[in-house]
Amino acid sequence: MTSNIVLIGFMGAGKSTIGKRLAEGLSLNFCDSDERIEEVAKTSIANIFELQGEEYFRSLEYKVLSELIQLSGAVISTGGGAIMNKELFDLLLSKGLVIYLDATIETLFERLKDSSNRPLLFGNDPLGQMKKILKLRQPEYMKAHYTIQTDNKGEDEIVGAILAIIRDNIKANKFTLLNNTIL
Ligand code: S3P
Repeated sequence: MTSNIVLIGFMGAGKSTIGKRLAEGLSLNFCDSDERIEEVAKTSIANIFELQGEEYFRSLEYKVLSELIQLSGAVISTGGGAIMNKELFDLLLSKGLVIYLDATIETLFERLKDSSNRPLLFGNDPLGQMKKILKLRQPEYMKAHYTIQTDNKGEDEIVGAILAIIRDNIKANKFTLLNNTIL
């Protein structure tokens, strides 16, 4: 039985914001894989991409997430591309309740258009780039245990939907809250 919640989804899906809120509400630890990577590498994600390249970033992402998922009682927000590593995604699926925060490309673009820390979107056609990447990733995201459509939903509503999923999983003996928080 798992005690971790793993949030997956495209850049701009709200994984970190929602993850933080959820962890606070449930008194669980919150871990953000991108933050942890920056701590380990002692530099920003943008710098890692620029100086060492995406492949090196992916190796750090694999290392960090495969360590974080060994925790118990954590909310883990992943970088948008982590699920493209099959071995890593399988590990996340086996050790966590994996929730996909889904949104349309229009919503994602609206949330990301002023972002300056997403190296994959640095080119001169970020929307085209987003469409291309999302098309490749969508079938993987859909392998999550649950999908939540986030368009036009506020944070409270999204957190509420996740809490409902957790409650169902506790009842079905598939999830345990280690700290006895009452939901
Ligand atoms: C990436 C998403 C980013 C970060 C890196 C690569 C991706 O995280 O890991 O820039 O491949 O989609 P967010 O999804 O938190 O923006």
